[in-house]
Amino acid sequence: MSDGSSFYITTPIFYVNDVPHIGHAYTEVAADVLARWHRQSGDKTWLLTGTDEHGQKILRTATANGVTPQEWADRLVETAWKPLLETVNIANDDFIRTTEKRHEVNTQKFLQHLHDEGHIYTGEYEGFYCVGCEEYKQPSDLVDGTGEYVGQQVCAIHSKPVELLHEKNYFFKMSAFTDRLLELYESNPNFVQPESARNEVLSFVKRGLADLSISRSSFDWGIKVPWDESHVVYVWFDALLNYITAAGYGQDDEKFASLWPATHIVGKDILRFHAVIWPAMLMAAGIEVPKQVFGHGWLLVGGEKMSKSKLTGIAPQQITDTFGSDAFRYYFMSAITFGQDGSFSWEDLSARYQAELANGFGNLASRVIAMVVRYCDGTIPTPGEFTADDEAIIATEKRATEGAVDAISRLAIHEAIASVWELVDELNGYITSQEPWGLAKDPANRARLETVLYTALRGLGTLAVLLSPVVPEATAKLWTALGGTGDVTDQRIDQAWKWTGGDTVAPLEALFPRIEASFD
Ligand code: MSP
Repeated sequence: MSDGSSFYITTPIFYVNDVPHIGHAYTEVAADVLARWHRQSGDKTWLLTGTDEHGQKILRTATANGVTPQEWADRLVETAWKPLLETVNIANDDFIRTTEKRHEVNTQKFLQHLHDEGHIYTGEYEGFYCVGCEEYKQPSDLVDGTGEYVGQQVCAIHSKPVELLHEKNYFFKMSAFTDRLLELYESNPNFVQPESARNEVLSFVKRGLADLSISRSSFDWGIKVPWDESHVVYVWFDALLNYITAAGYGQDDEKFASLWPATHIVGKDILRFHAVIWPAMLMAAGIEVPKQVFGHGWLLVGGEKMSKSKLTGIAPQQITDTFGSDAFRYYFMSAITFGQDGSFSWEDLSARYQAELANGFGNLASRVIAMVVRYCDGTIPTPGEFTADDEAIIATEKRATEGAVDAISRLAIHEAIASVWELVDELNGYITSQEPWGLAKDPANRARLETVLYTALRGLGTLAVLLSPVVPEATAKLWTALGGTGDVTDQRIDQAWKWTGGDTVAPLEALFPRIEASFD
């Protein structure tokens, strides 16, 4: 049972140089499923997402398109990034843009504080910079270029050449936090998860940390360094602070105290920023470190990270236009082990849609409700004595609930869905073996028919509650058809197996209609 505690969860904030692809939507959906789950567990939940709008990458894109970076950011936020939230049905509580005053002012406050406390110094740096990553790269981060970049060293993530920069900048004494960070990973093994991510971070920090260049002076698209306006804040330093500026840091202490610390969901490519730089920044400022940083895997195309720059990006709408947002959410959350890479294919999506959502879940719901309409005039029957078969279903409802709750506490979203799907499969088997249509033929079997339909209905009720964070549209329809009280989103998820359905059912349209699509 939840203690009604606070659950503050974040997505990374997205670069607005380009429009979203399904890799970005994947991060959004994962955080949203966890947020919805916690809301239904009675936790005071707050989901934050937003956009990362400063830095060279955005500046160059805007310039190439003949507009100011602010105009470019405004355009992309309104036409692409906010609409993404609708496309995949994200119930976020706030949306922060790094060009907003509340962020800029409080980022400066944070930086000034670090400066006053002696954590910042002036230095020089020469290194290879990847504008795609907005990061200085070590030689070990580079690989040999191919195609047009043969003979050059390129960024391993973006496959594009890096630029040699020599700058006089402000530095954050991050190296001073090496031991405290190692202590943090040691004393709180959950701080970075999954285990593979934790190991990577541990071995990185054990090699020793360098100080971090936190300002740039060769361009001016960024937040001004408060004590030296000829510099702008390094875009990552600025971006990471969104997690606290949106939560009230610097301007609403009460709000901040009630929300912080957060759970950060990030892709594994940006793990070090969140699990190393970010806690070091917070330690320097005397602010509690995040509750957890979870690094998920990549959606791959042809074995490589899907990306717009490599022209492998698929727009989320391409999927949702045909399959709907529920199917998008279900597919990516169930088919990929959360924390590992996964490949997307239209064939796999289509096959799972048909087998699991349309036939497995949707059809089960339609059939049971149609039988209650037909055999009981839509009145939800009162059960007679339960047989071992009925008891087995009720036991599975309980087991599925407990299994899913446990899996979510470990952020194992795919496992939670698998646990719920045991109930889907068992209910289908139950209907096949109990043959309510056979029982309906003989009035002598009336009591048994009613018990079977009741048992199936309560199983559906449990499914509606448990699956609501993953497939919110379908479960809302199902809950209404079951005559459930209130909204399905108000039902406690840890109590999902307790029947709270109504007196009568209403007809239910197909939750996942058949799709005639070809993906040749
Ligand atoms: N702006 C930074 C994050 C700053 S957070 C303080 C950034 N933005 S991003 O737009 O490039 O990426 C945002 C998120 O999308 C990251 O978590 C990244 O891992 C995720 N993904 C981008 N491509 C992806 C895949 N192909 N697969 C899965 N997630 C991917 O980084």
